[in-house]
Amino acid sequence: MFESYQIHSRDQYEKDYKNSLEDPEKFWGNIAEHFVWQKKWDQVLDWEFKTPSVKWFDGGLLNVSENCIDRFVKIDPSRIALIWEANDPSELPREISYLELQNEVCKYANMLQSRGVKKSNRVIIYMGMVPELVFAVLACARLGAIHSVIFAGFSAISIKDRIVDCEATHIITCDGTFRGAKCIDLKSIIDEAIFDLSFIKNVFVLQRTRQEVKMVEGRDVWIHELIDQQSDWFEPVAMSSEDPLFILYTSGSTGKPKGVVHSTAGYMIWANYTFINVFQYKTGQIHFCTADIGWITGHSYIIYGPLSAGAATLMFEGIPTWPNEERLWQIIDKHQVNILYTAPTAIRSLMVYGEDPPSHYSLESLKVLGTVGEPINEEAWHWYDQNIGKSRIPIVDTWWQTETGGIMISNLAGITESKPTYATLPLPGVSAVLKDQEGKNVMEAHQQSALFINKPWPGIIRTTYQDHARCKLNYFSQIENMYCTGDGAFVDEENNFRIIGRIDDVLNVSGHRLGTAELENAINEHPSVIESAVVGYPHDLKGQGIYAFIICQDTTTDHDLMTEEIRELVQAIIGPIAKPDKIQMVTGLPKTRSGKIMRRILRKIAEGEKSNFGDLTSLIDANVIDQILANAK
Ligand code: WT7
Repeated sequence: MFESYQIHSRDQYEKDYKNSLEDPEKFWGNIAEHFVWQKKWDQVLDWEFKTPSVKWFDGGLLNVSENCIDRFVKIDPSRIALIWEANDPSELPREISYLELQNEVCKYANMLQSRGVKKSNRVIIYMGMVPELVFAVLACARLGAIHSVIFAGFSAISIKDRIVDCEATHIITCDGTFRGAKCIDLKSIIDEAIFDLSFIKNVFVLQRTRQEVKMVEGRDVWIHELIDQQSDWFEPVAMSSEDPLFILYTSGSTGKPKGVVHSTAGYMIWANYTFINVFQYKTGQIHFCTADIGWITGHSYIIYGPLSAGAATLMFEGIPTWPNEERLWQIIDKHQVNILYTAPTAIRSLMVYGEDPPSHYSLESLKVLGTVGEPINEEAWHWYDQNIGKSRIPIVDTWWQTETGGIMISNLAGITESKPTYATLPLPGVSAVLKDQEGKNVMEAHQQSALFINKPWPGIIRTTYQDHARCKLNYFSQIENMYCTGDGAFVDEENNFRIIGRIDDVLNVSGHRLGTAELENAINEHPSVIESAVVGYPHDLKGQGIYAFIICQDTTTDHDLMTEEIRELVQAIIGPIAKPDKIQMVTGLPKTRSGKIMRRILRKIAEGEKSNFGDLTSLIDANVIDQILANAK
């Protein structure tokens, strides 16, 4: 099915890379032939980055759920699609075949439709990591509703912002979710988020934890009371190639998260192409991505990439350190996992326990290891290689972003060389360039600069929901006709890319993206805060930690209490992942004459630098630096 466009050698990689950029229409047109279309496209690619406007396979009609399910049911209905490992290791895992997946997805689609969900409506999904989350996502795709999954760690206020932004009419949630030793209320958080939103028609509630929840009459419905009466067939709705498949909110350099919109055909093909090539997936293998479906990694590499390739995708409800730090290794042996895709922050958190825990497991089923989310440090790379891969299998370091839909720069497992800490080579279709501030190409090896992409690939962001101007401003305005990644990078002598990390006001905390402006807005909600500035600093486990410098009112004397209040406030407004690691009360911030905070200086202080702050001539008052330094954390 995908074998004909899977890259089998280094030579082929080079040929495909060249062809994909020289004649993208021919290259992607050939690949698109391998999917199920209800109507073939008129034109493979039509684009310009000025507006921006990118159309792939325009004029085509297809349904993503049909491509992810039905075509494999036809080959073998009993083939396993989804393997689910519960939070509690003593709870039985579930194995769901492609036929069962089809039945469940159809029932969910019928249930949604019976309550008024129609094509192009927005449906919020706020659930734990249970198979029903996958059913809900694919049911939306089947009936043409646009799903927006919200990570189950986000607070009521964050959820409300997103629901209002996308004007969702329906919500699918659970009573609660298990995460390690904790049981998190989801339904009550939803209740808080939507209590004054009259446009919400229904909240569908899955029973998972069986905790007590409040059901609002006429609005809230139990899924178990509706689902059995639904037919297990739902005709896949014909969607246009460029119809939005989903919205996923992510942080940027402004205060408000933006709704990244992905398309139907282009996104699906990109998720599929990158999945089969980067991981060198072979039919019959079991793929385990440890991400949460609330993030893009879960969308593309738990759901859409693997299922569109007919793979068995393993979904884990819990966390790697519970009930103990052997959990991932135990899951790998138990389910004979072939591909493990995880994040550097997870590797570092397991490294702390040493070499002993993984040594109790064979891990022989593994063929490929992957990492994503942040630059992987050398030590973590080697630990992963030696202790999990037993130095016998490739590691793919995959660089990409919510906005790119799928992997952009990565070695291909066993096909192109890996190089520790380097994402290495761009995938076919990805024209990656390094640019200096004037927009000039920076070609010399080891010269760090900004990473741009100058041609469209099928999975590129189409817009930010209901705010196309923002999409243009955020991604297409820095240099004309270029997609701006916001990341810094350099290449080595062989043109392998090494990604350094964000060069905009975005932090990467444990692989999660947080805008400094978003954090500052939350902190500034505290009545005693006058002004705040947030920067990132190197953190052993999280990659980056959050350091907040805060000016508070003179009348505030109990700084410890205020620090605690601010941490709680940020948790309430954004979620636990956003809690600052360090909070320092200051009397002033380093500002330029035009009133801009010089974050560069604060970043250096947060990194532990005591001097060498560079050019300070534009500062109004250089004395604030000494004052901040005197109490630096
Ligand atoms: C940012 C995107 C893409 C899925 C998870 C995060 C950083 C991601 C790598 C990598 C170095 C990486 C970048 C990027 N990043 N993967 N392999 N090496 N940095 O998605 O929340 O959209 O964040 O994560 O800084 O811009 P995201």
